Amino acid sequence: MAKPIVYVTRKLPNEIISELTEKYQVKMWEEEEVPVPRDVLMKEITEANAVLSMLTDTFDEELLNMASELKIIANLAVGYDNIDLKACTSRGITVTNTPDVLTETTADLTFGLLLAVARRIPESVDVIRNDEWKTWSPYMMAGSDVHQKTIGIVGMGSIGEAVAKRATGFDMNILYHNRNRKPKAEEKLGASYASLEELLAKSDFVVSMLPLTKETKGMFDAQAFDRMKQSAFFINASRGGVVNEADLYQAIKGEKIQGAGLDVFANEPIGSNHPLAQLDRVVALPHIGSSTVDTRNRMAMLCVENIKHVLDGMEPLTPVKI
Ligand code: DGY
Repeated sequence: MAKPIVYVTRKLPNEIISELTEKYQVKMWEEEEVPVPRDVLMKEITEANAVLSMLTDTFDEELLNMASELKIIANLAVGYDNIDLKACTSRGITVTNTPDVLTETTADLTFGLLLAVARRIPESVDVIRNDEWKTWSPYMMAGSDVHQKTIGIVGMGSIGEAVAKRATGFDMNILYHNRNRKPKAEEKLGASYASLEELLAKSDFVVSMLPLTKETKGMFDAQAFDRMKQSAFFINASRGGVVNEADLYQAIKGEKIQGAGLDVFANEPIGSNHPLAQLDRVVALPHIGSSTVDTRNRMAMLCVENIKHVLDGMEPLTPVKI
């Protein structure tokens, strides 16, 4: 009997792929830095029984109409806004993501971004790189304190809670806003629930950990930035689409807020000519929230396990539920 076909949409290490090759025929897009072109994916999807996909691959009706053999899309990310879930469900295609294994790593990066923008770390690195350090001076690169300030986390899922845990080490006052209250987080981390308006008004650091959905799209807009303190920073390590980037640019440029730390953008990748990347008080990163070798290996292995489970007729470990 022919082996089931697994299509991997980006080059992954041999140690990961070898976990699949015994039981399956594995086909892979052999590039690390270039996403699989749409036309190639359209062709490969026609015979694939499983796909190990990236957040750069769009699974919409048009593509899924070609996927007559497909049983599972195992997305190498906790987010899955690149996949039309309804269209998958109606075709009996299981979608899985990679929660939990990236929680702490993403929280580390989020907090690092917060520190970097508050203490002007990248700008300070440039002072030396550009030979601009002439002498020590009292207010050179004077930034903003983080300890004992108020952090407002919007989207208190597991990564939001992990960010809050880090904030306790900095003696921060922790506010959060979420669809539902999190009594355990309130008790364990001393976090207080706040309406979005209250959180925006009171926080020194507003941190978005929101998934991108119809409801959250463009949620951080001019009105939201107007509500924030002039001294506040906006941090986003979730999805770029939750922000109106033109409004954020105006808010920083017009000194309505102090700056931003951004790991994600509405249309990725961005270049140095992106307006936000040109502002001194913006620290812009290329979507590296969960990017450590250990965590990316764990994410890839979880995708592999999910594929094995589904192709063997079992429940996947981490299904996305509609
Ligand atoms: C995710 O998992 O959704 C991240 O954005 C990718 O690291």
